Amino acid sequence: MPVLRPMTQSEYAAWLAATIPAYAADKVASGQWAEDAALELSKKEYGELLPQGPETPGNHLFTILDEKATPVGVLWFAVKTKFNARIAFVFDVTILEGRRRQGHARQALLALEDEVRKLGLSGIALHVFGHNTGAQALYAKLGYRPTNISLFKPIGLTVDGPDQPSRNEERQVLAVEDEYVAKM
Ligand SMILES: CC(C)(COP(=O)(O)OP(=O)(O)OC[C@H]1O[C@@H](n2cnc3c(N)ncnc32)[C@H](O)[C@@H]1OP(=O)(O)O)[C@@H](O)C(=O)NCCC(=O)NCCS
Repeated sequence: MPVLRPMTQSEYAAWLAATIPAYAADKVASGQWAEDAALELSKKEYGELLPQGPETPGNHLFTILDEKATPVGVLWFAVKTKFNARIAFVFDVTILEGRRRQGHARQALLALEDEVRKLGLSGIALHVFGHNTGAQALYAKLGYRPTNISLFKPIGLTVDGPDQPSRNEERQVLAVEDEYVAKM
């Protein structure tokens, strides 16, 4: 039973409809986009990344299936060239909330390795936020190793005031890391 099946047009439409506002909300939360412009900017970015939807050359969008072929998540990667090597960059791996901790992401990432071999790529890269310790544990178990680590130390007062530094710190870290990801 395959774990990864190419996303259908209707699955793509449903995924995009959920992803665009979620990405816009992240950008607003990280202080990078104004709330009133965020949705349009998010639509624009996805339009640029995936101009031909699931058929966009160099991009591979999959529905993750369980053992009964029921959809349990999505996996999206793009082929990128880094230092003269062609690799897969994973833009999204998400498992439905009610289906987590059942091994589906693990199975999907192992199946991804087969796809990567078939395409003759030399590895898999991805970005994970420092606060996403669950995803980090998953990747570490599968043999992914950090290549860059972003650090942040707050200096002085923050806009939230000295008693509430965490939200502002998070925003700054997200903004810096996001800039880094955009260069990938
Ligand atoms: C991260 C995510 C994809 C993991 O999917 P999953 O199907 O629940 O992961 P698996 O069941 O395959 O987990 C395999 C192993 O990874 C580790 N792991 C996964 N999620 C974890 C969590 N929340 N906390 C701690 N360890 C976790 C565990 O070691 C786990 O093995 P175990 O369950 O036997 O202890 C899922 O939580 C998700 O969709 N999160 C939201 C989107 C996201 O953050 N994606 C990653 C972006 S980088």
